[in-house]
Amino acid sequence: MTTVIGIAGSLRRGSYNAALLRAAGELMPAALQFEAGSIRDIPIYDGDVEAEQGIPPAVAQLKNRIAAAQAILLVTPEYNGSIPGPLKNALDWLSRPPADMPAIFTGKPVGVIGATPGALGTALSQAALLPVLRAFKLKPYFGSLLYVSGAAKVFDENGRLVDDAVRQKLKTYLEGFARFVNE
Ligand SMILES: Cc1cc2nc3c(=O)[nH]c(=O)nc-3n(C[C@H](O)[C@H](O)[C@H](O)COP(=O)(O)O)c2cc1C
Repeated sequence: MTTVIGIAGSLRRGSYNAALLRAAGELMPAALQFEAGSIRDIPIYDGDVEAEQGIPPAVAQLKNRIAAAQAILLVTPEYNGSIPGPLKNALDWLSRPPADMPAIFTGKPVGVIGATPGALGTALSQAALLPVLRAFKLKPYFGSLLYVSGAAKVFDENGRLVDDAVRQKLKTYLEGFARFVNE
C-alpha cells in the first residue's frame, strides 16, 4: 500500500490548516493510504540539545513515520508572508542529522497546500517552502495548486469543510497528487 503522511503546520486548536488536512484525509483517493503526523511536541531547535541529548523523541518518531511513508503532504499556514515558525522549526529538526536524510526524504513525493482567512491562500508560504523542499531533495508535486483563502467561510465552527468549490479543488489536487506519487 502506498502511504502518504500529512503534516499541518499549526498548533492552534481551531487551525484551518489542521481542518484542511483532515478534509484531505477524508477525500484521499483509494490509491493512497492517509495518515496524519504531528509537529505538536517538537521543541525549539537548539544545537546544544542535539549535541548533548540527541534527537528529541517527538522528532525521532515523526522521522520514523515519514521514512515508512511513500509520500508527504504539507499543509502550511502563512505568517508574515512566509513559513510559520513552528513548521520551519519542525522541518529543521527533521533534517537532523543530515546523514539520515537520504533514507527519509531523498526523491520522496511531496505536496504542499494551505489555508488562510486572508485573500492570497498561502501562496507566499507555499513558495517560501520551495527552497526547503530542495534542501531536503524532495520531489514536489507541481501538477496543480491549492490556495485556500477566506478560510473562515470555508470551514464551519467544527472545522468541517463546507465549501463545495474548495472541496472539488481539493479532490482534484489529491487525484493528481495520487497519480504523481504512484507514477
Ligand atoms: C504572526 C502571524 C502572521 C500572519 N501573517 C499572515 C500572512 O502573511 N498571510 C496570511 O494570509 N495570513 C497571515 N496570518 C493569519 C493566519 O493565516 C491565520 O492566523 C491562520 O488562521 C493561521 O493558520 P491556522 O488556522 O492553521 O492556525 C498571520 C497570523 C499570525 C499569527
